[in-house]
Amino acid sequence: MQLARRREQLRPQLAQWRRAGETVALVPTMGALHEGHLALVRCARTRARRTVVSIFVNPAQFGPGEDFHRYPRDEAGDLAKLAALGVDLVYLPDAADMYAPDHRSWVVVEELSEGLCGASRPSFFRGVATVVLKLLLRVRPDLAVFGEKDYQQLLVVRRMVRDLDLDLEVVAHPVVREPDGLALSSRNAYLSPEERRIAPALYRSLCWGRERLLEGAAAEAVCAAIAARLVEAGFRAVDYVELRDAEGLRPLCRFDGRPARLLAAAFLGTTRLIDNLPLSRPA
Ligand code: PAF
Repeated sequence: MQLARRREQLRPQLAQWRRAGETVALVPTMGALHEGHLALVRCARTRARRTVVSIFVNPAQFGPGEDFHRYPRDEAGDLAKLAALGVDLVYLPDAADMYAPDHRSWVVVEELSEGLCGASRPSFFRGVATVVLKLLLRVRPDLAVFGEKDYQQLLVVRRMVRDLDLDLEVVAHPVVREPDGLALSSRNAYLSPEERRIAPALYRSLCWGRERLLEGAAAEAVCAAIAARLVEAGFRAVDYVELRDAEGLRPLCRFDGRPARLLAAAFLGTTRLIDNLPLSRPA
Protein backbone atom coordinates (compact mmCIF):
# COMPACT_ATOMS: atom_id res chain seq x y z
CA MET A 1 0.00 0.00 0.00
CA GLN A 2 1.45 3.34 -1.04
CA LEU A 3 1.15 6.56 0.95
CA ALA A 4 1.01 10.05 -0.54
CA ARG A 5 1.14 13.08 1.73
CA ARG A 6 1.34 15.71 -1.01
CA ARG A 7 -0.61 15.97 -4.22
CA GLU A 8 2.56 15.66 -6.41
CA GLN A 9 3.11 12.22 -4.85
CA LEU A 10 -0.28 11.05 -6.15
CA ARG A 11 0.36 11.82 -9.78
CA PRO A 12 2.89 9.19 -10.96
CA GLN A 13 0.92 6.22 -9.62
CA LEU A 14 -2.44 7.53 -10.84
CA ALA A 15 -0.94 8.22 -14.29
CA GLN A 16 0.48 4.70 -14.46
CA TRP A 17 -2.89 3.14 -13.59
CA ARG A 18 -4.60 5.29 -16.18
CA ARG A 19 -2.09 4.31 -18.88
CA ALA A 20 -2.72 0.66 -18.00
CA GLY A 21 -6.48 1.24 -18.39
CA GLU A 22 -7.16 0.37 -14.73
CA THR A 23 -10.27 1.78 -13.06
CA VAL A 24 -9.86 3.76 -9.84
CA ALA A 25 -12.28 4.17 -6.91
CA LEU A 26 -11.94 6.88 -4.27
CA VAL A 27 -13.24 6.61 -0.71
CA PRO A 28 -12.95 10.04 0.95
CA THR A 29 -12.74 9.87 4.77
CA MET A 30 -11.71 11.91 7.78
CA GLY A 31 -9.98 8.90 9.34
CA ALA A 32 -10.75 7.31 12.74
CA LEU A 33 -11.91 4.45 10.55
CA HIS A 34 -14.61 2.09 11.78
CA GLU A 35 -16.54 -0.77 10.18
CA GLY A 36 -18.74 1.74 8.33
CA HIS A 37 -15.73 3.17 6.49
CA LEU A 38 -14.33 -0.31 5.91
CA ALA A 39 -17.62 -1.32 4.28
CA LEU A 40 -17.20 1.61 1.86
CA VAL A 41 -13.66 0.43 1.09
CA ARG A 42 -14.82 -3.16 0.49
CA CYS A 43 -17.53 -1.82 -1.81
CA ALA A 44 -14.93 0.25 -3.72
CA ARG A 45 -12.69 -2.82 -4.07
CA THR A 46 -15.49 -4.77 -5.76
CA ARG A 47 -16.23 -1.93 -8.19
CA ALA A 48 -12.79 -0.85 -9.41
CA ARG A 49 -9.36 -2.35 -10.07
CA ARG A 50 -7.62 0.19 -7.80
CA THR A 51 -8.78 1.75 -4.54
CA VAL A 52 -7.60 5.08 -3.17
CA VAL A 53 -8.64 6.20 0.33
CA SER A 54 -8.14 9.78 1.46
CA ILE A 55 -7.79 10.71 5.12
CA PHE A 56 -8.14 14.41 5.85
CA VAL A 57 -9.88 16.08 8.79
CA ASN A 58 -11.17 19.00 6.77
CA PRO A 59 -11.11 22.21 8.84
CA ALA A 60 -13.40 23.93 6.32
CA GLN A 61 -16.40 21.78 7.28
CA PHE A 62 -16.22 22.50 11.02
CA GLY A 63 -17.90 25.61 12.40
CA PRO A 64 -16.59 27.76 15.24
CA GLY A 65 -16.92 25.87 18.54
CA GLU A 66 -17.33 22.49 16.79
CA ASP A 67 -15.07 19.51 17.43
CA PHE A 68 -12.31 20.01 14.81
CA HIS A 69 -9.49 19.94 17.39
CA ARG A 70 -10.77 16.95 19.31
CA TYR A 71 -12.03 14.99 16.28
CA PRO A 72 -10.56 11.46 16.74
CA ARG A 73 -7.32 10.83 14.83
CA ASP A 74 -5.56 7.45 14.58
CA GLU A 75 -3.28 7.40 11.56
CA ALA A 76 -1.38 4.22 12.50
CA GLY A 77 -4.59 2.30 13.26
CA ASP A 78 -6.25 3.56 10.06
CA LEU A 79 -3.31 2.54 7.89
CA ALA A 80 -3.21 -0.95 9.41
CA LYS A 81 -6.95 -1.42 8.68
CA LEU A 82 -6.61 -0.18 5.09
CA ALA A 83 -3.53 -2.32 4.40
CA ALA A 84 -5.42 -5.38 5.66
CA LEU A 85 -8.20 -4.65 3.14
CA GLY A 86 -5.80 -4.41 0.21
CA VAL A 87 -6.13 -0.67 -0.46
CA ASP A 88 -3.68 0.46 -3.15
CA LEU A 89 -3.01 4.06 -2.15
CA VAL A 90 -3.79 6.27 0.85
CA TYR A 91 -3.72 10.02 0.38
CA LEU A 92 -3.05 11.87 3.66
CA PRO A 93 -2.75 15.55 2.83
CA ASP A 94 -2.27 18.14 5.53
CA ALA A 95 -4.12 21.46 5.57
CA ALA A 96 -1.25 23.19 3.74
CA ASP A 97 -1.40 20.68 0.89
CA MET A 98 -5.17 21.07 0.63
CA TYR A 99 -5.66 24.83 1.02
CA ALA A 100 -3.38 27.69 -0.01
CA PRO A 101 -3.11 30.30 2.78
CA ASP A 102 -5.16 32.69 0.62
CA HIS A 103 -7.71 30.06 -0.54
CA ARG A 104 -10.91 31.94 -1.38
CA SER A 105 -12.92 29.66 -3.71
CA TRP A 106 -15.83 27.61 -2.42
CA VAL A 107 -18.39 25.25 -3.89
CA VAL A 108 -21.97 25.94 -2.77
CA VAL A 109 -24.73 23.52 -3.73
CA GLU A 110 -27.81 25.67 -3.22
CA GLU A 111 -31.09 24.42 -1.73
CA LEU A 112 -29.91 20.86 -0.99
CA SER A 113 -27.36 22.30 1.45
CA GLU A 114 -30.01 24.34 3.25
CA GLY A 115 -32.18 22.93 6.03
CA LEU A 116 -31.56 19.72 8.02
CA CYS A 117 -27.82 19.67 8.93
CA GLY A 118 -27.26 22.83 6.87
CA ALA A 119 -29.51 24.82 9.20
CA SER A 120 -27.46 24.20 12.35
CA ARG A 121 -24.10 23.86 10.53
CA PRO A 122 -24.28 26.72 8.00
CA SER A 123 -20.84 26.31 6.34
CA PHE A 124 -20.65 22.50 6.66
CA PHE A 125 -21.75 21.57 3.14
CA ARG A 126 -19.70 24.35 1.55
CA GLY A 127 -16.65 22.84 3.26
CA VAL A 128 -17.62 19.28 2.28
CA ALA A 129 -18.38 20.11 -1.37
CA THR A 130 -15.18 22.10 -1.75
CA VAL A 131 -12.89 19.44 -0.29
CA VAL A 132 -14.65 16.62 -2.15
CA LEU A 133 -14.28 18.50 -5.44
CA LYS A 134 -10.58 19.06 -4.74
CA LEU A 135 -10.10 15.37 -3.93
CA LEU A 136 -11.98 14.33 -7.08
CA LEU A 137 -9.85 16.67 -9.21
CA ARG A 138 -6.65 15.35 -7.68
CA VAL A 139 -7.49 11.65 -7.91
CA ARG A 140 -9.81 11.74 -10.97
CA PRO A 141 -11.48 8.45 -9.96
CA ASP A 142 -13.98 6.53 -12.07
CA LEU A 143 -16.19 6.27 -9.01
CA ALA A 144 -16.35 7.53 -5.44
CA VAL A 145 -18.15 5.80 -2.56
CA PHE A 146 -20.13 7.66 0.14
CA GLY A 147 -22.18 6.33 3.06
CA GLU A 148 -25.92 6.91 3.33
CA LYS A 149 -25.54 7.77 7.01
CA ASP A 150 -24.63 11.27 5.85
CA TYR A 151 -27.58 11.23 3.49
CA GLN A 152 -27.76 14.98 2.85
CA GLN A 153 -24.01 15.00 2.17
CA LEU A 154 -24.45 12.16 -0.34
CA LEU A 155 -27.10 14.15 -2.24
CA VAL A 156 -25.04 17.34 -2.12
CA VAL A 157 -22.05 15.51 -3.61
CA ARG A 158 -24.22 13.83 -6.26
CA ARG A 159 -25.71 17.16 -7.30
CA MET A 160 -22.28 18.84 -7.43
CA VAL A 161 -20.96 16.01 -9.63
CA ARG A 162 -23.91 16.38 -11.97
CA ASP A 163 -23.96 20.18 -12.07
CA LEU A 164 -20.22 20.53 -12.63
CA ASP A 165 -20.05 17.79 -15.29
CA LEU A 166 -17.64 15.63 -13.34
CA ASP A 167 -17.18 12.36 -15.11
CA LEU A 168 -17.56 9.78 -12.35
CA GLU A 169 -20.15 7.60 -10.66
CA VAL A 170 -21.16 8.40 -7.09
CA VAL A 171 -21.88 5.09 -5.35
CA ALA A 172 -24.03 5.09 -2.19
CA HIS A 173 -23.51 2.50 0.53
CA PRO A 174 -26.27 1.73 3.10
CA VAL A 175 -25.83 2.74 6.74
CA VAL A 176 -23.74 0.25 8.73
CA ARG A 177 -25.07 -0.34 12.25
CA GLU A 178 -24.05 -1.85 15.56
CA PRO A 179 -26.10 -4.93 16.53
CA ASP A 180 -28.34 -2.64 18.68
CA GLY A 181 -29.04 -0.37 15.69
CA LEU A 182 -26.73 2.56 16.44
CA ALA A 183 -25.33 3.88 13.15
CA LEU A 184 -21.54 3.65 13.10
CA SER A 185 -19.86 7.05 13.38
CA SER A 186 -16.43 8.28 14.42
CA ARG A 187 -18.25 10.56 16.88
CA ASN A 188 -19.66 7.53 18.77
CA ALA A 189 -16.23 7.50 20.43
CA TYR A 190 -17.29 10.65 22.35
CA LEU A 191 -20.17 8.85 24.09
CA SER A 192 -19.88 7.95 27.78
CA PRO A 193 -21.00 4.39 28.69
CA GLU A 194 -24.38 5.79 29.82
CA GLU A 195 -24.80 7.80 26.60
CA ARG A 196 -23.81 4.75 24.54
CA ARG A 197 -26.59 2.82 26.28
CA ILE A 198 -29.11 5.53 25.34
CA ALA A 199 -27.86 6.16 21.77
CA PRO A 200 -29.73 3.30 19.97
CA ALA A 201 -32.99 5.09 20.89
CA LEU A 202 -32.32 7.26 17.83
CA TYR A 203 -32.58 4.29 15.47
CA ARG A 204 -35.44 2.70 17.44
CA SER A 205 -37.47 5.93 17.40
CA LEU A 206 -36.92 6.36 13.67
CA CYS A 207 -38.05 2.75 13.08
CA TRP A 208 -41.15 3.40 15.16
CA GLY A 209 -41.83 6.60 13.21
CA ARG A 210 -41.33 4.88 9.88
CA GLU A 211 -44.05 2.36 10.77
CA ARG A 212 -46.50 5.17 11.60
CA LEU A 213 -45.66 6.98 8.35
CA LEU A 214 -46.12 3.80 6.32
CA GLU A 215 -49.56 3.47 7.96
CA GLY A 216 -50.39 6.94 6.59
CA ALA A 217 -49.88 9.18 9.65
CA ALA A 218 -49.08 12.87 9.12
CA ALA A 219 -45.35 13.65 9.11
CA GLU A 220 -45.60 16.60 11.50
CA ALA A 221 -47.22 14.54 14.27
CA VAL A 222 -44.92 11.56 13.75
CA CYS A 223 -41.76 13.71 13.76
CA ALA A 224 -42.91 15.50 16.93
CA ALA A 225 -43.56 12.11 18.57
CA ILE A 226 -40.10 10.86 17.57
CA ALA A 227 -38.53 13.99 19.08
CA ALA A 228 -40.49 13.43 22.31
CA ARG A 229 -39.30 9.82 22.45
CA LEU A 230 -35.69 10.94 22.05
CA VAL A 231 -35.94 13.41 24.92
CA GLU A 232 -37.70 10.78 27.02
CA ALA A 233 -34.87 8.34 26.29
CA GLY A 234 -32.26 10.83 27.56
CA PHE A 235 -31.26 12.94 24.54
CA ARG A 236 -30.48 16.50 25.65
CA ALA A 237 -31.96 18.24 22.60
CA VAL A 238 -33.36 17.41 19.19
CA ASP A 239 -31.96 19.36 16.25
CA TYR A 240 -34.46 18.08 13.67
CA VAL A 241 -36.68 15.15 12.75
CA GLU A 242 -38.09 15.45 9.24
CA LEU A 243 -39.66 13.49 6.42
CA ARG A 244 -38.23 14.49 3.05
CA ASP A 245 -38.39 13.16 -0.47
CA ALA A 246 -35.42 10.90 -1.12
CA GLU A 247 -34.05 12.67 -4.19
CA GLY A 248 -34.45 16.41 -3.70
CA LEU A 249 -35.00 16.53 0.09
CA ARG A 250 -38.25 18.44 -0.33
CA PRO A 251 -40.35 18.42 2.88
CA LEU A 252 -43.27 15.97 2.80
CA CYS A 253 -46.55 16.22 4.71
CA ARG A 254 -46.96 12.45 4.64
CA PHE A 255 -45.50 9.41 2.90
CA ASP A 256 -47.17 9.19 -0.52
CA GLY A 257 -45.56 6.01 -1.84
CA ARG A 258 -42.67 7.71 -3.60
CA PRO A 259 -39.16 7.12 -2.16
CA ALA A 260 -38.72 9.20 0.99
CA ARG A 261 -36.26 9.54 3.83
CA LEU A 262 -36.90 10.06 7.54
CA LEU A 263 -33.93 12.01 8.93
CA ALA A 264 -32.96 13.10 12.42
CA ALA A 265 -30.17 14.81 14.35
CA ALA A 266 -30.09 15.02 18.14
CA PHE A 267 -27.67 15.80 20.94
CA LEU A 268 -26.70 13.21 23.49
CA GLY A 269 -24.77 15.28 26.02
CA THR A 270 -22.44 17.31 23.80
CA THR A 271 -22.37 14.74 20.99
CA ARG A 272 -24.52 15.38 17.94
CA LEU A 273 -25.74 12.12 16.37
CA ILE A 274 -27.45 11.83 12.99
CA ASP A 275 -29.33 8.96 11.40
CA ASN A 276 -31.89 8.33 8.67
CA LEU A 277 -34.10 5.60 7.26
CA PRO A 278 -35.48 4.99 3.77
CA LEU A 279 -39.23 4.71 3.18
CA SER A 280 -40.65 3.02 0.15
CA ARG A 281 -43.90 1.30 -0.67
CA PRO A 282 -43.67 -2.36 0.51
CA ALA A 283 -43.26 -4.68 -2.52
O1 PAF B 1 -18.08 12.10 5.46
C1 PAF B 1 -16.93 12.48 5.71
O2 PAF B 1 -16.14 11.79 6.36
C2 PAF B 1 -16.49 13.84 5.20
O3 PAF B 1 -17.53 14.76 5.23
C3 PAF B 1 -15.83 13.80 3.81
C4 PAF B 1 -16.81 13.31 2.74
C5 PAF B 1 -14.63 12.86 3.83
C6 PAF B 1 -15.36 15.19 3.39
O4 PAF B 1 -14.42 15.69 4.30
